[in-house]
Amino acid sequence: MTARAFAPAKINLALHVTGRRADGYHLLDSIVVFADVGDTVTASPAAEWSLTMDGPFAAGLDTSGDNLVLRAARVMGGAPAALHLDKRLPLASGIGGGSGDAAATLRVLGALDGRALPNDAAAALGADVPVCLAGRPARMRGIGERLDPLPELPQAALCLVNPGIAVPTPAVFSALDRRDGTPLPDLRAWRDADDLAAWLGTCRNDLEPPALGIAPQIGAALAALRATPRCRIARMSGSGATCFALYPTRPEAEQAAAAIRRDRPDWWVVAANMLR
Ligand code: C5P
Repeated sequence: MTARAFAPAKINLALHVTGRRADGYHLLDSIVVFADVGDTVTASPAAEWSLTMDGPFAAGLDTSGDNLVLRAARVMGGAPAALHLDKRLPLASGIGGGSGDAAATLRVLGALDGRALPNDAAAALGADVPVCLAGRPARMRGIGERLDPLPELPQAALCLVNPGIAVPTPAVFSALDRRDGTPLPDLRAWRDADDLAAWLGTCRNDLEPPALGIAPQIGAALAALRATPRCRIARMSGSGATCFALYPTRPEAEQAAAAIRRDRPDWWVVAANMLR
C-alpha cells in the first residue's frame, strides 16, 4: 500500500506583524490561502525509514535527518516507511514548501496506519505547519498556531513568481523596523475577486519592506506582476521571495504567467487556482 499527500503552496494574501513574544517569535495576523500547485509526499511501509526525492527543486535539499520530511516522520513515529518527496516548489521562498512537506508527511503517515495527527506537536516543526496541516484557508494568528476559518472566498486565480533567490526567514524578521503593526481590518464576505483585492489593498505584508532590503529582486518580481493587464493586486507572500498577483479568472493568470515567463525565463513562474 502506498499513501500520497499533496502539499499545496501556501500564500499569505496579507501578513501583519502585531508583536513579539518573549522568546523572539513574532505575533502575526495573516490571511492564508492555498493554490493547486505544490509538492507531493508518498509513503509505503518498509523495513526501515528512508527518504528519496525528485522534482525540479530536489537538488537543493539533502536527505539528512534535518530534512523537514524526516523531522515530521520522527514526530509521527510508528512503523517505518519509505518516503518520497516530489519537490516542485522553490526552497525558502515564502510559500510554505518546508512546512507543507512536513504537514503532508504527518498526513501521509497517518493515512498509512490510521493514526491520529499530532496537531499539538505540529507547531514545533515550524510556525506554518499547523495551517498547512489544516489545509484550509484561514486567518492565522499567534505565531501561527491560532487558526480561524475565513468568510467564503470568491473564485480567483493566482500567478506566483519567484525571482530565483532563497530568502532566509529569520533574516527578514530580524530586519523588521517595527514589530507593533495594526491587526488586519475587519474581515467581510467578499463578493468577488475585485472585492477581495480591494479589501487586500487595505492590508499589508509587513515582511515585504525588510525582504526587499535583503533581496531587491523582489521589487522586479512585483513590478512584473503589476505590469500584467488584469492584475488586481500584487504582493509578496510570507518572508519572500515569492510574490503573487490575484486575477478574477484562470485564463488571465495564465496569460500573465506566459508574459512574465517570456521576459524572465530564469524565474519560477506558475499560474494556479486559489483553493477555496
Ligand atoms: O518556525 P519556522 O521554522 O517557520 O520559522 C523560522 C524562523 O522565522 C524562526 O526561527 C524565527 O526566527 C522566525 N519566525 C518568527 N516569528 C514567526 C515565525 C517565524 O520570528 N511567527
